[in-house]
Amino acid sequence: MSKTVDIDWDNLGFSYIKTDYRYISVWKDGKWDEGKLVEDNKLTISEGSTALHYGQQCFEGLKAYRTKDGKVQLFRPDENAKRMIESCHKVLMPGVPVEKFIDACKQVVKANEHFVPPYGTGGTLYLRPFVIGVGDNIGVKSAPEFIFSVFCVPVGPYFKGGVNPVNFLVAPDFDRAAPHGTGAAKVGGNYAASLYPLSIAKEKGFADCIYLDPATRTKVEEVGSANFFGITHDDKFVTPTSPSILRSITRISLETIAEDYLGLKVEERDVYIDKLDEFKEAGACGTAAVITPIGGVQYKDDFHVFYSEKEVGPITKKLYDTLCGIQFGDVEAPEGWMVEVE
Ligand SMILES: Cc1ncc(COP(=O)(O)O)c(C=O)c1O
Repeated sequence: MSKTVDIDWDNLGFSYIKTDYRYISVWKDGKWDEGKLVEDNKLTISEGSTALHYGQQCFEGLKAYRTKDGKVQLFRPDENAKRMIESCHKVLMPGVPVEKFIDACKQVVKANEHFVPPYGTGGTLYLRPFVIGVGDNIGVKSAPEFIFSVFCVPVGPYFKGGVNPVNFLVAPDFDRAAPHGTGAAKVGGNYAASLYPLSIAKEKGFADCIYLDPATRTKVEEVGSANFFGITHDDKFVTPTSPSILRSITRISLETIAEDYLGLKVEERDVYIDKLDEFKEAGACGTAAVITPIGGVQYKDDFHVFYSEKEVGPITKKLYDTLCGIQFGDVEAPEGWMVEVE
């Protein structure tokens, strides 16, 4: 590390910290410009920008990890790049090519390397790529110009002092996404719609909401901003399928880990909210949540506890240790998963 910063690495949370550099590229006249690093963390855009009025925007989230020997590596950035192209297309924005996305992420990590938490603290550098529609406009139509930007924030481990289960509330009267809507895309509107149910869950003492499938409201879809998985009594790793679930990169990685590292069978299928007792353990997984064990679920008048409200189950713990081991370079990764920032 060339520069140093005055950060208490052991007490980092998940809050905005201004780092030194961010990447910015503009799409105009049918193409992306080359892009550059800038120091200013403010954007000046037209008041008519579609991102402000019509939600024409999308974003991504991924992390850079410092390994024991001091290297810095990204976890499957190609998957985030591909997912962002799909999100862009869903709201009629030009996609950012995979190579450009990865190059932007690498430039940002390299320029802010002194903000990557040291190995052993459990902290990481969280990257937030986004695309927004900008430019003078008033009608409901696609923007004349777009901005692709990536900034980063050092964040602490999701769990301080061990992996602990949390409880969730099945969203009483809310859906996160419509049956043929934007649930599978990482667009801001999905998150705006989740803020009110989240506030209700928090008020009632739950960590977040579980969302059911919007068409029948009988099947589990998302757990807050994370995907659901359950471990059946005969040791299968089960995760729901639906066109309105965001395809979590952590979840697809856990499917590989469950099968290839832990020897579990993997099933993608419907998970019914009134059949939760088929699982002995359950968890929520995502870049921010890593793996959060689900203690209990409140569904109408029923409170269902999986393994325990206090302790993480043994299979969930193994999945967690293997995933983090791979990300921090302590466990051998499947080919192509870890991308070094040199
Ligand atoms: C709605 C939603 N589901 C799932 C996830 C987990 O996805 P990933 O593992 O790619 O972070 C996220 C976070 O990105 C999310 O916002």
